[in-house]
Amino acid sequence: MPLKKSEFLSHVWQDGLFKGKVVFCTGGNGTICSAQVRALVYLGANACIVGRNEQKTLDMAKDLAAQRQGAKVIGIGNIDVRDIDLLSKAAERCAKELGGIDFLIAGAAGNFLAPMAQLSANAFKTVMDIDVLGSYNVTKVCIPYLLESVKKYNSQGGLPKSDTAGPSGRIIYVSATMHYTGMALQTHVVAAKAAVDAISHNVALEYGPLGITSNIIAPGPIAGTEGMDRLGGKLRANERPGQRLPLGRWGSIKEIADATVWLFSDAANYVTGQTTIVDGGAWHVQTGP
Ligand code: HXC
Repeated sequence: MPLKKSEFLSHVWQDGLFKGKVVFCTGGNGTICSAQVRALVYLGANACIVGRNEQKTLDMAKDLAAQRQGAKVIGIGNIDVRDIDLLSKAAERCAKELGGIDFLIAGAAGNFLAPMAQLSANAFKTVMDIDVLGSYNVTKVCIPYLLESVKKYNSQGGLPKSDTAGPSGRIIYVSATMHYTGMALQTHVVAAKAAVDAISHNVALEYGPLGITSNIIAPGPIAGTEGMDRLGGKLRANERPGQRLPLGRWGSIKEIADATVWLFSDAANYVTGQTTIVDGGAWHVQTGP
């Protein structure tokens, strides 16, 4: 059966693409995760973002909700992803107030530069706990809701409907690329991100048969992010940001949002257990901060 033009053109990046969908996001105050959620809200989704800082989380939720008339965005502060009970209550509140959880973005991360010998055991453990335990915790508490979402989608014939567009039961972990090559001053982070990737792959294997997809977005150097501000290293005199990278520039948060929309859309129905690297080819030439 040849590909139909109507099938091909009608499902991707259109207004209302995620109408009726709910995304739960950790690290939702961050530059990257808030851009991901913002794009989903523009395209019709409602959202629940959780963060450690209460005021920042509430302010961000308000800002995101203002992006589309009728959008509902809940912000829940004082949530540390290392505490599974807090996350569990947040997911429960999200499902109760927004009607379920269709998509999960596991984006909370901790990072700083430190030579390994000066890294305390507690500092190493802190980043492992935020990144790895945090990813495990939020996956564990969201899986029952994601399964419900898949069930609902399947009972509707698995096709986009005007009131509940697009697929359900999808996870994106926000990872990185530094563990592909190793990176000085980042022992704690490379260990944590490698484990986050492993969790994503395993969720894809374990829950694929139940309809959940699990993928990774690995951002490279993205302009205007806390990660680049704090960890990106110094530019040489007269150097344009990113000029030594294959695409000759740093990336933008829109480019991470685009990858997110793709992975949550019908266009990525057969994609799971994969990493979408959005880095302008940077990891092929990366050397360190
Ligand atoms: C060495 C440090 C340190 C530093 C903290 N520690 N900062 N060690 N160098 N710069 C040590 C502390 O001394 C302590 O160990 C242990 O880490 C725990 O510190 P706390 O401050 O108690 O932990 P906590 O309050 O939980 O803070 C977590 C954090 C912090 C990771 C340390 O930076 C944080 O909350 N970050 C969240 C935001 C964030 O990092 N976002 C960036 C993500 S960007 P001792 O032994 O003293 O008890 C990203 C992508 C990067 O991930 C891409 C780059 C290109």
